[in-house]
Amino acid sequence: MTTHEQRILIVDDEPMIRRLLNQKLSKQGYHCEEASSSDEALEKMKTYSADLILLDMKMPGGSGMELLADLKPIYPAAAVIMATAVNETNLAIQCMRLGAEDYICKPFNLDEVAINVGKTLEKKRLEQKIKEYQEHLQQKVDEQTREIRTLFLGSIEALVFALEAKDKYTAGHSRRVCEISMVISRELNSSEDFVEDLRWGSLLHDVGKIAVDQCIQNKPGKLTPAEYEHIMIHAQVGAGIVKPVVNERVVAIVEHHHDHYDGTGLHQLVSGEDIPLGARILTIADAYDAMTSDRPYRPAITVEDARQEIKRCSGTQFDPILASAFLKIDISCSTSKRDKLAAINT
Ligand SMILES: [Fe+2]
Repeated sequence: MTTHEQRILIVDDEPMIRRLLNQKLSKQGYHCEEASSSDEALEKMKTYSADLILLDMKMPGGSGMELLADLKPIYPAAAVIMATAVNETNLAIQCMRLGAEDYICKPFNLDEVAINVGKTLEKKRLEQKIKEYQEHLQQKVDEQTREIRTLFLGSIEALVFALEAKDKYTAGHSRRVCEISMVISRELNSSEDFVEDLRWGSLLHDVGKIAVDQCIQNKPGKLTPAEYEHIMIHAQVGAGIVKPVVNERVVAIVEHHHDHYDGTGLHQLVSGEDIPLGARILTIADAYDAMTSDRPYRPAITVEDARQEIKRCSGTQFDPILASAFLKIDISCSTSKRDKLAAINT
């Protein structure tokens, strides 16, 4: 297929050859430009962007093969046909290994050159079509993967909210914890990707409570060590539930959200900065919301008392740098949302 938009750059040091090729190919409907050297060809390509380059193998001041090696990385979409002497076919084959599409032998049969050019451009066009089709398909697959993932995450999120809504003590907890985590991460100027991971980690952190005995969870008195151990399985169980639908960073946030900074948490394997940063933030938000909420075994404590408790546990339960960042924040904005969310969920 020849179209008027298709552009050919003829690179040859012999003016007569350039003129003959230009005349023949122009008659076929191509737009042609000429260059008499490698330097001129490189300069022309900056503004001409040819679809096809007819490239003479032997030119003074730089071989066609060298020019091909320079051009291909910059203009990978441009097809190249090498023009060689009959006894240079080995070199021409090397050029094809460097990315040339074809070669033609001198002296030229102009009709054959025109056929060759047409075939090469058509091949290039089809390759481009296939590439675009594959990119389009990939885009579709990515879109659908995102949609499926969002649906799954939405379902798990709904499950968490449903679980929490079952009792008045936990209603709205994950949403509030998420709000507080977001406030802390903004204070830390965290990257968008990190904030997104933390958002999902916070919303889903307690999904593992589906495996916790409700009688133990709602026990009005102090938990026995065995009961406490039973409740704490929710971090591991939650990580397992979310694993198929979130990235490993979110899984790690859920898994480590009860880790103590000093390593004294139950069955904890890492401590200090080996605990994922998102989990270290979440644990402060989680503790703050738990302390300022009523629980079956105690009423809510005041915001000021909760802040004092976070200060007291800085360096033991909580990362001291994050605890101090949290204590600088006026959390009242989030706590006002807390009341609204609690109202929605009760
Ligand atoms: Fe938890």
